[in-house]
Amino acid sequence: MSVLIKGGRVVTATDDYVGDVFVDGGRISLLGEALDVTADTTIDASGKLVLPGLVDPHTHLDMPFGGTTTIDDVRSGHEAAAFGGTTCHVDFCIQGKGQTFADALADWHGKREGKALIDMGYHIAITDLSDPERLEELASLPEQGVTSYKLFMAYKGALMVDDETLFKSMEVAAASGALVMVHAENGDAIDVLVKQALAAGNTAPHFHALTRPPETEGEATNRAVQLARVAGCPLYVVHVSCKESVEPIALAREKGWDVWGETCTQYFFIDQTFLERPDFEGAKYVYTPPPRAKDNQDVLWNAVRTDVLSAISTDHCSFLWDGQKTLGRDDFSLIPNGGPGLENRLHMIHHLGVGQGRITLNRMVELLSTNPAKLFGLYPRKGTIAPGSDADLVIFDPSKRKTITVADQHSKADYNLYEGTEVTGDVETVLVRGTVVIDDAELKVEPGYGQFVARAKFGEELRPAALGV
Ligand code: URP
Ligand code: ZN
Ligand code: ZN
Repeated sequence: MSVLIKGGRVVTATDDYVGDVFVDGGRISLLGEALDVTADTTIDASGKLVLPGLVDPHTHLDMPFGGTTTIDDVRSGHEAAAFGGTTCHVDFCIQGKGQTFADALADWHGKREGKALIDMGYHIAITDLSDPERLEELASLPEQGVTSYKLFMAYKGALMVDDETLFKSMEVAAASGALVMVHAENGDAIDVLVKQALAAGNTAPHFHALTRPPETEGEATNRAVQLARVAGCPLYVVHVSCKESVEPIALAREKGWDVWGETCTQYFFIDQTFLERPDFEGAKYVYTPPPRAKDNQDVLWNAVRTDVLSAISTDHCSFLWDGQKTLGRDDFSLIPNGGPGLENRLHMIHHLGVGQGRITLNRMVELLSTNPAKLFGLYPRKGTIAPGSDADLVIFDPSKRKTITVADQHSKADYNLYEGTEVTGDVETVLVRGTVVIDDAELKVEPGYGQFVARAKFGEELRPAALGV
């Protein structure tokens, strides 16, 4: 099965030209000006952008959390992702307390099987190293293509680990070739602040932000940076939301340390005043770290422009407002933390970033696709348009106007974080490994098409099989 995409503006992290892309056997085969080839299918992309499929390095599908389970499973999460131009993502596989990593991974494979529409890998989220055998098992995971370890420095009493567990995991990663990811907030201090707020009768959603001040994120970020330096492992700080955590990452990177950071779409758009919306609507914006004071948005744009932060993810962790978020109607600490976003990352970043002159198209591709692919062992199979790479491609109309609304989203969430936002630019056609997955606003593949991707170790390349290296 071959596909010829004709006359589009091909944009990667480094290139920008008008040309043709010829896809054969699921991979990109030829690139050129007016290619003289015949194909089973020809797609006219004139006037459109042809982008590498987006890679989302931070999602939570079908995840038990906050006394409930995220509403998007792999099936609905992938539909939302594909309609937003995401063709591959890395989801968090959570180790239950006392559970082996093998059992946790089996659970996550079970959630994927028969449901996947796009490709996916797993980070392992470590919650319990009390059995000494777990350290040995942890060291073996990169050989199975699970090449990143995630640790939560917050959510006391649930996912949070102590510094001993964090540091031991970092030491294992330094030897095994894994990248360590941290949710950086001081969970102990936050736990004290939450209890004090509730004792004073402060139960409304906006106390979620007031009990997680930016300094608690800055402190934990710096602690993780310093511990990673001692352990000698590479570090990736997830969902950076504020100046206090941008600063230690900037300093570490200035020194040439192996530290990277991501932020998420929502932090550019939603600020802490959203949490004050009446009639419990503020609960829609209860995610962690919380929406911050608006001046942090310029700090984050500067950070992604200057490569202090290297990726933009969604942290898609969707709950129904009616029935799940409402668990915390009388106590903000019981509102499940998380929000939907898989479907609108490209819409929002193209509109706010490229459309408003904050980042270039090349940088957008780097932040949404190439850098996540490189950092998480998927490059160059994913994250670029080059001969031999998987034909994961997005044909994007940069001038089409779209109003983002829950009414036509594909996530099962009953709200959209960006409701009513009018953006310029929309996804038209999406291919995963050369097969059209989305076209003409319709899903074109059956559940089960998506594959698990065994990722390369940190700093190594995932070579396209056909190149034989
Ligand atoms: O509120 C959030 N971010 N929920 C998902 C879990 C996490 O902390 O990433
Ligand atoms: Zn987190
Ligand atoms: Zn998350």
